[in-house]
Amino acid sequence: MSCEERIDDLLAQMSLAEKVGQMRQISGTDEGYKELIRQGAAGSFLNILGEQAREYQRLAVEESRLGIPLILGRDVIHGFRTVFPIPLGQAATFDPEIAREGARIAAREAAAFGINWTLAPMVDIARDPRWGRIAEGGGEDPYLAACMGAAMVEGFQGEDLADPERIAACAKHYVGYGAAEGGRDYDATWIPEGLLRDVYLVPFHACVQAGVATLMSAFNDLNGVPASGNAFTLRQILKGEWVFDGFVVSDWNSIIEMIPHGFAADEKEAALKGVMVGVDMEMVSTSYAEHIEALIEEGALPIELIDEAVRRILRIKFRLGLFENPYYEQERQAVVLCDEHLEAARKAARESCVLLKNDGLLPLNNELDRLAVVGPLADAGRDQLGCWVFDGRDEESRTPLQALREVLGEEKVVYAPGLENCRSADESMIPQAVGAAREAEAVVAFLGEDAGLSGEAHCRAFLDLPGAQQQLVDALAETGRPLVAVIMTGRPLTLEPVIEKVGALLLAWHPGTMGGPAIVDLLFGVESPSGRLPATLPRTVGQVPIYYNRKNTGRPPRDDVPSIPTGTPLDPQGFTAKHLDVDHGPLFPFGYGLSYTTFEYTDLQLSAQQLKMGETLTAAVTVTNTGGAKAVEVVQLYVRDLVGSVTRPVRELKGFQRIALEPGESRQVLFELHTDDLAFHNIDMERVTEPGGFRLWIGSHSQSGLQGEFEVMD
Ligand code: BGC
Repeated sequence: MSCEERIDDLLAQMSLAEKVGQMRQISGTDEGYKELIRQGAAGSFLNILGEQAREYQRLAVEESRLGIPLILGRDVIHGFRTVFPIPLGQAATFDPEIAREGARIAAREAAAFGINWTLAPMVDIARDPRWGRIAEGGGEDPYLAACMGAAMVEGFQGEDLADPERIAACAKHYVGYGAAEGGRDYDATWIPEGLLRDVYLVPFHACVQAGVATLMSAFNDLNGVPASGNAFTLRQILKGEWVFDGFVVSDWNSIIEMIPHGFAADEKEAALKGVMVGVDMEMVSTSYAEHIEALIEEGALPIELIDEAVRRILRIKFRLGLFENPYYEQERQAVVLCDEHLEAARKAARESCVLLKNDGLLPLNNELDRLAVVGPLADAGRDQLGCWVFDGRDEESRTPLQALREVLGEEKVVYAPGLENCRSADESMIPQAVGAAREAEAVVAFLGEDAGLSGEAHCRAFLDLPGAQQQLVDALAETGRPLVAVIMTGRPLTLEPVIEKVGALLLAWHPGTMGGPAIVDLLFGVESPSGRLPATLPRTVGQVPIYYNRKNTGRPPRDDVPSIPTGTPLDPQGFTAKHLDVDHGPLFPFGYGLSYTTFEYTDLQLSAQQLKMGETLTAAVTVTNTGGAKAVEVVQLYVRDLVGSVTRPVRELKGFQRIALEPGESRQVLFELHTDDLAFHNIDMERVTEPGGFRLWIGSHSQSGLQGEFEVMD
């Protein structure tokens, strides 16, 4: 029998109550849940694993009437026990292989404990670093986030969901959640349809095309309609236009949160709206369980919609092979934290670090006699793991302090944290750190945010170093010792006051279990840093939102136009789209990152000046390693559509390639650009490539590059 025939067969045997049961997801454990499982009144559990998972699965398979297995979900976001860098850090690698491999390893470890389904990847575009959940996604750009998200889906799911080392993925939070007003989590979002389609939906579509098994409907009010009650995004776009055949789960209570949103009067109406728009499974809240049967009896809900929802859920359970192999195999748990996984996590962490300043201090000489290690994050096993870590353990983290002691020898490392923790305002330990610095040949300060400052509901109004960390940096700088800052963070921070005081700055995000050895590899030049910014770094929080693929406006700011001079308020000189009190540019643009060498771009060549619709342009450039170290360059392709029927962004990323070059080595790098890659949604919401002129850049970040022009002909 085919999968669909098996579903037909099962649906024909199921009572309405059993169907509704499939649409219910419960979190955690409780004695009472056992009876619900026996009755077939629960289709999925969240937050259980190991023996508990086996026991619940056994009740479903062996003691419920139809023996339908549970699907067991968990937030396995950036690793299970082997924790990889936060997803924003993974995006900084500009290396989809890192994301694919991280997800494969996470799936392999989680599956061994009974997890069938991860609530990842999060592919919300985030252009506001105040939003704590920027840490969980691929950053500000739809193309990069789509590449990373799709790679994660492939890594979690593999070729065959029934493979015992793979699990189902869930692209979340559908959709627009990252555009929360003011960067406040759960706040309302206003996203015009063109922007929704050209930016926010792009990574979700990529995940659907990569075969993602499930999506999660978000918490946010999207243009006046909550995302979990949104017929337009769920029925029309996801299930209609994209023909998605997996299932949609709500976010935690997001069905009944339509009541405080002011979109449903009570739980019954919330359930009605959720089912109508195609949210197939309700997470945690019980409005489906309590009201669907009555809604059907009253004729408010057609039974076909319930059958469709259950069909989708069963389809994924069949694809996962749960009917044949409902239980995990405990022997597989031996892979947890194995050398292969740790090595991959170390590589990921190494590639995720972005070097933002280096006046020649790095790489450090590993023969130095005394290194001062300071800062609240030098030895913070939990914090380096970052947000959304349920299974990684503090004591399994390899911290920078441990790694430095290993490389240099205990006696050569003087450790003085300087502050109790990241948020501490107590400066009494700073003098000790200053003393350690004075005794040393060089100082490395591990600064930034603790893990609890990013993630869900963890938004910040300020983006500077919390607590007295700036005072610590200032005091260390006073010593005149060579000073390196390593910043661990879940978001872009306003680092200008730190950058000014240090000789080198490495942005390490929250790097995961192997953060310490990875950072130390870079500090001593075992490898050259190769991460690039997946989100713009603002100079000050007042510039937010600031992102590279913005609109030009009628009055674009220019470097050669001075600011408005004092005393001439009506002089139109300098009346451009910028703030008076800060430079118009970011501190560092999207795509930026240094290495221990330099690269030169020469000889941009386009295969044609004119392209007909449907043709492909080949753009070639020669990249040369002009410095002294072997290193990876992330070669980036950007395009601008010069005139459109609606205005187009100043630049859009259309391709990137990581290339490794030896000192003196040159390589020609080729990009292919099809006219379809230039498409966007016009005022009538048709996806079109419009004829006309285009500008193209190939370079090392979003504000650089060799420039070419071409024309698309009708
Ligand atoms: C989050 C989701 C998460 C879910 C289950 C919610 O609060 O928004 O991202 O998957 O909880 O833990």
